[in-house]
Amino acid sequence: MAGRGFTSSTQSIPDISQGPRHVAIIMDGNGRWARKRFLPRMAGHTRGVEALRGTIRAAIERDVEYLTVFAFSSENWRRPAEEVSFLMQLFIKSLQKEVSRLHENGIRFRVIGDRSRFEPALVKAIEAAEALTAGNTRLHLSVAANYGGRWDVLAAANRVLAKNPGAREIDEEALAAELSMSFAPEPDLFIRTGGEQRISNFLLWQLAYTELYFTDTLWPDFDSGTLDTAIASYRERERRFGRTSEQLTPARTVAASRDSDMECHA
Ligand code: IPE
Ligand code: IPE
Ligand code: MG
Repeated sequence: MAGRGFTSSTQSIPDISQGPRHVAIIMDGNGRWARKRFLPRMAGHTRGVEALRGTIRAAIERDVEYLTVFAFSSENWRRPAEEVSFLMQLFIKSLQKEVSRLHENGIRFRVIGDRSRFEPALVKAIEAAEALTAGNTRLHLSVAANYGGRWDVLAAANRVLAKNPGAREIDEEALAAELSMSFAPEPDLFIRTGGEQRISNFLLWQLAYTELYFTDTLWPDFDSGTLDTAIASYRERERRFGRTSEQLTPARTVAASRDSDMECHA
């Protein structure tokens, strides 16, 4: 998009008036949504897919370029086998059902996470969806599945070492290039639904300077209105990345606007 550079958000200050380029969401609260209605947890997961469909549409309408959602964590294998298996089947079914619509809408689909534990049918469905949508650029949709932030950092470090046998040190740039989200700028806005205020091993490296937003809304109830509230909160933030307010764009510091020639340097 014009005027939006491709540098890491920790190196340059994004213009918040343009809204977030990259939104990362922990979609939490499906089980509680179902329990409130005396339904099985699985009903909450099924409704969660619908909430995701609406969120993708809303993100496109709001010019979000990257949407990254946490669907299944590396810790979620600890859940009852029946629920794990339901979630895996739901993933396959949703992919099969939605992939052509994603493609028609210009969405590039990716899965981030360790696929080695997935059954072959799921791996095949993921690979087919990624291949079909590989040329799309309207929205980069990444689904984190069997994903863990620690796994991501360690896997990246191991890839750097494998490429540089005998290396004694790893630098930030080399590591970042091997992370599963290396294709994207770091998230501008992180949203967690469901009321918990924790990161739960999501994008540990990439969230270093992301603006965090927590809401009690349960994921199946999340809609364009909730997204707008989160984006409105984001627009009120001042992203300083270690600098002082006065160092930011002179226009924003009214008193200093006349005599300040300070600009924000990356
Ligand atoms: C999020 O909802 C979906 C997954 C983790 C797969 P939960 O299933 O965690 O719902 P709660 O937190 O129990 O309500
Ligand atoms: C985090 O949700 C992972 C996903 C939404 C997929 P959980 O509901 O599993 O998180 P914790 O374990 O309660 O923090
Ligand atoms: Mg939960």
